[in-house]
Amino acid sequence: MITDLEDRRVFLENTMKMLGLGLCAPVISAILSSCEYYLENPYTSSGNFVEIDINASTRLKNFVGWGDFHNFQNMNYGVPLIIMRLKKDPDPDTEPGDLTKYFVCFSSLCTHASCYGPDNITKPSPSFPAISCNCHGSKFDPYDGGKVLLGPAEKPLQSYPTQYDPKTKILKIFY
Ligand code: FES
Repeated sequence: MITDLEDRRVFLENTMKMLGLGLCAPVISAILSSCEYYLENPYTSSGNFVEIDINASTRLKNFVGWGDFHNFQNMNYGVPLIIMRLKKDPDPDTEPGDLTKYFVCFSSLCTHASCYGPDNITKPSPSFPAISCNCHGSKFDPYDGGKVLLGPAEKPLQSYPTQYDPKTKILKIFY
């Protein structure tokens, strides 16, 4: 089956050759291959996790529905994550309930053509509660597993499970 990425790779390689830049074609091909690998091999848990002290992020500490970029070199291929708080901390003497439901976390790598990061992706906010890719207009729903709200993307954003302890304010992101 010919995928979009294969189509793009062949197109770019042919274009580079036509422009007399054939030596660059292997580089382009390698970049697209890594994107292809990334998109075709979604998250499977290794049991590892990274931690964030939510107190260190004013937005995540205080506001529901706002996304924030965070970067961890040792996960998600170094591509920034988008983390968003879904509900407020409970009162200190109230049982916190399901610790996996306080935050969501997604890769910011758009599943259409691999744009990513703060230069290309708009974080969700209460007034516009979607993750938007500014390259070609795809939109993803952070309240529903990162599913596609608007194409051209066809696949959801890659999501990572979270676990938050309201007492310590530590958020774990599993990968
Ligand atoms: S790369 Fe995101 S919509 Fe095309």
